[in-house]
Amino acid sequence: MSLLEVTHLESGYGRIPVLHGIDLAVEEGEMVAVIGPNGAGKSTLMRSIFGLLPRWHGEVQFLGRRVHDYEPSLLPTWGLSYVPQGINVFTALTVAENLEMACHLLKVPGPKIREICQRFPILERRRGQLAGTLSGGERQMLAIASALMLGPKLLMLDEPTTGLAPIVAAEVIQHILDINREGTAILWVVEENPASVLQHCSRVYLLESGQIRRTDSGIGLLNDPHFAELFLGVA
Ligand SMILES: Nc1ncnc2c1ncn2[C@@H]1O[C@H](COP(=O)(O)OP(=O)(O)OP(=O)(O)O)[C@@H](O)[C@H]1O
Ligand SMILES: [Mg+2]
Repeated sequence: MSLLEVTHLESGYGRIPVLHGIDLAVEEGEMVAVIGPNGAGKSTLMRSIFGLLPRWHGEVQFLGRRVHDYEPSLLPTWGLSYVPQGINVFTALTVAENLEMACHLLKVPGPKIREICQRFPILERRRGQLAGTLSGGERQMLAIASALMLGPKLLMLDEPTTGLAPIVAAEVIQHILDINREGTAILWVVEENPASVLQHCSRVYLLESGQIRRTDSGIGLLNDPHFAELFLGVA
């Protein structure tokens, strides 16, 4: 049994289907990526895995338990954390309040904040600042820090580097690689900087029009000239 196992998942909005029978798995400690063009259904897949969208057909199992039988708010306590695309912090609260809120919601003891801030020293320096005024990179680090509170077994990230300056994106990527190296599995929607991320992924799912078109290792994809031309702009 895989850590996360998605079988024949179908989902959508209202009566409009988006996902058409997705099969996907993440093993303990693995780094897995989902890539695909805009509108392919990557974020819809993340929301559906986390139980935020109704499941029309198929199943999502985490640690052998059917995610859809439980409230999404329970999932972090099992070790499944999710950092959504876009607004993923409480913008009207300070950095410190955001971290305290995560502690409170997840019933984590306060000292965990200090441990998390040692990993992200910038958050310590921005403690009193409103999260809505953080730079893009700082906001992503706050969102990831909040998601790390319960020491997840699997961290789901939806485009954590999109829109960041290259040097900041590299810093965020390095944090995520470190988190993975320490044993947390990562399911990562990758949009920008694909080459620097995919080389570390044991498996990559290429999603198009709500279907998995291809599954390969990151290195396998990067060495495929057709893929490189399509996704990396290398002629
Ligand atoms: N809240 C919503 N209500 C209705 N349709 C939606 C909603 N969110 C997304 N969709 C539609 O679902 C499809 C997949 O969108 P999704 O956001 O999952 O794509 P994506 O692969 O994450 O794209 P991007 O790379 O731009 O983030 C699109 O056709 C989109 O218009
Ligand atoms: Mg998206």
